[in-house]
Amino acid sequence: MTLLKTLHRINGRLFFIVFIVGSILCIYLLSKSKAELTPRATLHAFSAVAVFLLLSLKILFIKFYRQFYSYAKLLGVLIVLLTFNLIAFSTGYSIVVGDKLVTDKVEINNNSKLKAEMYAMNKEGNVERGKKLFSQICSSCHYTDRKDFIRAAPGLKGILSEKNLPVSKKPATPENITNQIRKPYRFMPAFTDLKDEEIKDIIEYLKTL
Ligand code: HEC
Repeated sequence: MTLLKTLHRINGRLFFIVFIVGSILCIYLLSKSKAELTPRATLHAFSAVAVFLLLSLKILFIKFYRQFYSYAKLLGVLIVLLTFNLIAFSTGYSIVVGDKLVTDKVEINNNSKLKAEMYAMNKEGNVERGKKLFSQICSSCHYTDRKDFIRAAPGLKGILSEKNLPVSKKPATPENITNQIRKPYRFMPAFTDLKDEEIKDIIEYLKTL
């Protein structure tokens, strides 16, 4: 029994150290990324604060307020459950969805900031990026090397050197193509989550067809 108690005490101290180091790291990363918390991160942070409070309470009950000693066990169980929760919402989630760890995420965030800046600098758009986007999201419905239709979707060869767009017959301008992507004329799906820069890139690519 004394052995178990010693083990429990050592375990508790280790837990406390890991917990504090983890918290400091998380808070540091959060302050660096300046990101708004996602719902998942909020639950993670909430669990962490609850674990911290319960742990402090448990230590108080054991060391100073012995009259509440009998609650210590219950607090211990709650701490275990909440810690499980806390891990499930971070590491567990990452394992399940094959996501990278938080540190990488901060870097990715910084990268996408950098990307946005690069986009902003390069106002004309970039043919290569446009080509890649087009092959990912448009090419299943549109030919690029001819003007034939695939079912209702027109081939887009030379689209911007024509006078009018093939289906709506509106003038063939970048504005009207942007409009087609955002609010399609008929059956084409709308691509509302494409950024303006991405559409610019796609249009730069369409100019080369
Ligand atoms: C699911 C099939 C589908 C996908 C994916 C698709 N389109 Fe279309 N697209 C169509 C159809 C159908 C039309 C005919 C007009 C309509 O129904 O809105 C069309 C028409 C067009 C036109 C001619 C519009 C006009 O006014 O005549 C352009 C330009 C165009 N699409 C560009 C794109 C671009 C760029 C993408 C990728 C971001 C894309 N499409 C993705 C189906 C698709």
